[in-house]
Amino acid sequence: MVSRRLPATSDRILPGTEDALRIDLDGTPVDGLRGQTIAGVLLGSGVLAWRRTSRAGKPRGVFCGIGVCFDCIVTVNGQRDVRACQRRAADGDRIETQQDALPEPTTENDPFGDRT
Ligand code: FES
Repeated sequence: MVSRRLPATSDRILPGTEDALRIDLDGTPVDGLRGQTIAGVLLGSGVLAWRRTSRAGKPRGVFCGIGVCFDCIVTVNGQRDVRACQRRAADGDRIETQQDALPEPTTENDPFGDRT
């Protein structure tokens, strides 16, 4: 995927103004524009992955981009499991990546019975 941001002033139908914002991704400032989703800010800044899968540690970012797959989840201002493709970025948002381990099987979450 190629990420690039076109200037809002270049929109020939509805030219807009470039109202900048800055979010924080794990302590690193990332610049974006008002109106972008968190995923849009990250992609527009060249950040393509911000989560790792629980089992294999594979990098993930946007997959569906419409709120269905949950590949893009992040913690936003302390709120876990936020879909970055659905949340509009706000100036000063603190974004933390999530890399959760798989839960240990228990009798409650193991559909095949006792694994003790
Ligand atoms: S990319 Fe699929 S839910 Fe965000």
